[in-house]
Formats: sequence, structure tokens, C-alpha cells
Amino acid sequence: MTVTTIERLADHVGQTVTLRGWLYNRRSSKKLHFLQLRDGTGIVQCIATLEHFGEERFPEIGGLPYESAVTITGEVRADARAPGGFEMDADKVDVVSVSEEYPISHKEHGPDFLLSNRHLWLRSRKQVALMKLRDEVIRTIRNFFHERGFLNVDAPIFTPNACEGTTNLFEVDYFDEEKAYLTQSGQLYMEAAAMAFGKVYCFGPTFRAEKSKTRRHLTEFWMCEPEMAYANLDDVMDLTEDLLQTIVEAVLANRRADLEILERDISALEKIQKPYPRITYTEAVEKLKSTDHKFEWGGDFGAPDETAISSEYDRPVLVHRYPQEVKAFYMRRDPEDDRCALGVDVLAPEGYGEIIGGGERESDLEVLRSRIAEHKLPEEAFKWYLDLRRFGTVPHGGFGLGLERTVCWLAGIEHVRECIPFPRMLHRIYP
Ligand code: 4AD
Ligand code: MG
Repeated sequence: MTVTTIERLADHVGQTVTLRGWLYNRRSSKKLHFLQLRDGTGIVQCIATLEHFGEERFPEIGGLPYESAVTITGEVRADARAPGGFEMDADKVDVVSVSEEYPISHKEHGPDFLLSNRHLWLRSRKQVALMKLRDEVIRTIRNFFHERGFLNVDAPIFTPNACEGTTNLFEVDYFDEEKAYLTQSGQLYMEAAAMAFGKVYCFGPTFRAEKSKTRRHLTEFWMCEPEMAYANLDDVMDLTEDLLQTIVEAVLANRRADLEILERDISALEKIQKPYPRITYTEAVEKLKSTDHKFEWGGDFGAPDETAISSEYDRPVLVHRYPQEVKAFYMRRDPEDDRCALGVDVLAPEGYGEIIGGGERESDLEVLRSRIAEHKLPEEAFKWYLDLRRFGTVPHGGFGLGLERTVCWLAGIEHVRECIPFPRMLHRIYP
């Protein structure tokens, strides 16, 4: 007997095959059961008739609890009206295990309940679509960098020092009274790697002890961080634009069915074309002030400010040259305006806010030393980082793309917590 998967049914029309999965849903009439079988690759309707299964077996099939594990054998039919385009006439239904009463129904549940049952919630149709979208974005990013000659160099998770400020560090005991911190960003290590290999990227989990309970914050999230030697802010901005455009096009080309399951407004994604607008922080503040929006030059943008700025555009907007006070110690100052740093944030459209942060790095040893002192960071911990400015320093830069925020925007959903398999947030580490 040929065993196949639901996504491969097109290759088996008219043939009898076996599918292995779980009972997702069921509708029944007196003489027919419409069994929705899911197998991770899709969902297909299998029709079981009283006539074929008989008086004893037919009601048994009708009484199977949802999420029971079953294999179904039958003939594949193409049917334009069926979701996915195919149906199966069930010939055999073999029960592998009978499920207990499944806690997640097809009705609405509150987010707390669903998050506490994340290990089961992952099976739901929208969650499957989200994870497929996430997989698509990850693969596209890796291919993108590989094709452009970037080497994948992974950064450590345990680190001796902060990268993005000291307020949201996770501290861990690291033998003999030494402290270590979970990495906030692989950037500093990518700077070392860029001086070794030219163009590099890391892609892994990063950690922030964020006490904020917003729809954009996780305490553990995945970041992709490219870094380039011999690069300036413009090179960094060009790269953010090329990467995002490639991701949008890949998702539209390969994950349209999943976007439909997520009820995404696909036309909003189709409008996205390069070039993306580039405005300075100062211009963004002026735009805000010209509306009713209250904002003073010098502050960092909050979520409502970002939404107001991006609402003018139907594609991502690059905001560059922020006040240096709101940016990290490693950012190079703008030689044209010492109040500003050569950093860029990319704001996604439709109010999704910052999905990328990056810029050009300070490459001068003495300037960097004074920044470390100004930020009250321990110079000892940055000795190795300062070495990079001693031995063949060059202009360089890069950025970090937050994977969950990017997926959240592409999917058009409310909260980043659904864009990672097992979210970690303030007050949530189970399951
Ligand atoms: O802007 P951030 O803090 O930049 C850095 O960490 C740089 N060192 C990156 C670099 O230049 N190599 O973070 C980068 C991105 C943000 O734009 C956002 O998308 C995401 O990481 N991010 C978060 N995502 C989810 N939850 C959080 N708490 C996040 N904090 C940042
Ligand atoms: Mg940022």
C-alpha cells in the first residue's frame, strides 16, 4: 500500500493510498461521516459511508474523539470544491490511538488558556500556517546571505558583558562566583567575525529581560545579524531593503495558501516594492509635529510614534540618524552632526513597528573607549572588542532583524507570541 502525505495528493488522483495523521474535525449525517484528517502537511476530507463500513463500524468511526491518531486508506479524488482540491473516499480507517477528550475545540479560547496548552495549540490550522511562514522566512534569509557570499558564523549565548544596555540582562551563575549573561545580540562577535571573513551573519536566539507586556516583546527571540567589513550606513540600509524585499517575494510566491488561512490582506504585501523611503530621525520628528502628535526631538520613538510615522507609507520605512543618547555605545557618530548616531531602524508598515535595528559601528579606538566610559560599561570586559580597533580597524556595519516581529507583520497577526513555537514572556515559561 502506498503511504503518502496530504500535500502530495495531487500525484495520486485515482489511486488508493494511505494517509497517517490525526482526526481534526468531523461532520456527520445518518449515512456519511466527513472526517477531516490532518497530517502536518495539510488537511483533507475523507468520506466514510454507512454502506461501506456497516452498522457496527460506522458508529464507532462517528464516536472517535478529536485528535485520535488514525490512518485512512482510500481512493483520491480531485474535487475543485474541496479545500485543497482533493478528497478521499475512505476504504479503511485504522485507529492507532484513541485520544482523551481534547481540550482545544474549534470554538474561541482565551489567550491564556491557549498559551498554557501551547504544546497542543501548535496543531491548530492557523498555528501550522504561522510555523510554515516562519520556516519560509528562515530559509529565505539563509539562502539570501549564502547567495551574497556571507559566511554563517554563530555567536555564543553565554556572554561576559552587555551589548544593548544593562537594564534588560539575564544574569546566570557561571562557576566559581563568576557571572555570565544570556546574549542580547551577537553583534559584537559578528564584528570580530567580519574582520576575519569580510561578510558574515549569525542567526540564533537572543534574550532580553523585558518587563514590558506588549504585543511586540518576548524575553527570548530569534535575531538574524549580518555584519560587513568595509561598509557604511548606506551599505547597511541597502542590505536591509534587499533582504526584506526578498523575504516578501518569497512568502508571496511560496506561502500564499498559508497567508489565506491567516486571513492576511495579501494585497498589502503585494504593494511592497523597492526602493523603500528613507527619512532621518529629524524629518520623522518634524512629520510627527506637523500632525497633532506630540513629540520632542531627542527622545526614542515608542510604539504609537512608530505607528504614526509608518502610517504614511505602504512599504517599510527606514529611519536613520537617531540622537546618539537613545542608541547603543558602539554606534558611530554622524560626522555632519555630532548629536546623531549613524544608526537605522526599519519600521514595518501597518503599525508593526521596528523590525530591524542597525547601523555603522564606531571604528576608532579612542572614540570607542570614551563611549564605553560614558555608558559606564566595564572596559575590562570589552578588551577583546577594543582589540578589533587596534588590529586593522575598518569602517563596518550591520543590523539585527527580529524574526518574530517580521513574521508577525507578514502574517498580519496581533501578537509576536504566536510567531515562535514556545514563547517566553514576562510571567510565562510553561510549557
Ligand atoms: O534594535 P535591537 O536592540 O538591535 C540590536 O540588538 C543590534 N545589536 C543588532 C545589530 O545591529 N546586529 O534589536 C534588533 C531587532 C529589533 O529591531 C526587533 O525586531 C528585535 O530585534 N527585538 C525584539 N523582538 C522581540 N522581542 C524583543 N524583546 C525584542 N527586542 C528586539
Ligand atoms: Mg532597536
